[in-house]
Amino acid sequence: MTEDILIAPSILAADFARLGEEIAAIDSAGADWIHCDVMDGHFVPNISFGADVIKAIRPLTKKVFDVHLMIAPTDPYLEAFAKAGADFITVHAEAGPHLDRSLQAIRSLGRKAGVSLCPSTPEAAIEYVLDRIDLVLLMTVNPGFGGQSFIGSQIEKIKRIRTMIGERPIRLEVDGGITRDNAAAVAAAGADTLVAGSAVFRGNSAADYAANIAAIRIAAEAGRVPAGRMRVSDGGRIR
Ligand code: DX5
Ligand code: ZN
Repeated sequence: MTEDILIAPSILAADFARLGEEIAAIDSAGADWIHCDVMDGHFVPNISFGADVIKAIRPLTKKVFDVHLMIAPTDPYLEAFAKAGADFITVHAEAGPHLDRSLQAIRSLGRKAGVSLCPSTPEAAIEYVLDRIDLVLLMTVNPGFGGQSFIGSQIEKIKRIRTMIGERPIRLEVDGGITRDNAAAVAAAGADTLVAGSAVFRGNSAADYAANIAAIRIAAEAGRVPAGRMRVSDGGRIR
């Protein structure tokens, strides 16, 4: 686990009336990925936006588009999200009976494939697809809404999934209720990619967003320093 921490602001928390400006703001504020939450009002009890919105904002930044599909079924729409410019397409393990097929379809479209798990879904759901994925997106709230509180039981699941991943080149992303206060704990458990909506889009300028992103990143990086490198003689200062 040597890769850098990545921060993926969720545009669900952006001002939709100024979506283009908000994308430019998080781009200049240091976002690594742009997290796009697609909701259908069926798999989750909320509706957000679809492939046409992603297509419209795609030219506004060169950052990686991390598209989180909270829709069922998924397969009929994968091509549209690939064409819209998604780099990662993530489907929920709970969204249909043929996860393996969906993941093969995403890779055959030339995109990176992700699997998301709801908080109540055991990590065993991904055991037999680990060689077909580039990303695990672990929900740390029940999907459907921004601004919810982090579910603490998921720390143990992050640790278990980190062990399952082993040396595979798979990113472990956490999503829901992530703040500067719990970023260290999720990174210490093994997360390397942090989605944050309301904790990033607090304030109303690129400078505010930059401070928010930096605070989450610094906390996460500190959390991932192995305990053995902290010296009491330094007052626990992280070097
Ligand atoms: C929830 C979404 C999240 C959400 C995160 O269904 O998948 O990406 O936007 O928002 P916060 O960070 O506010 O919990
Ligand atoms: Zn999400």
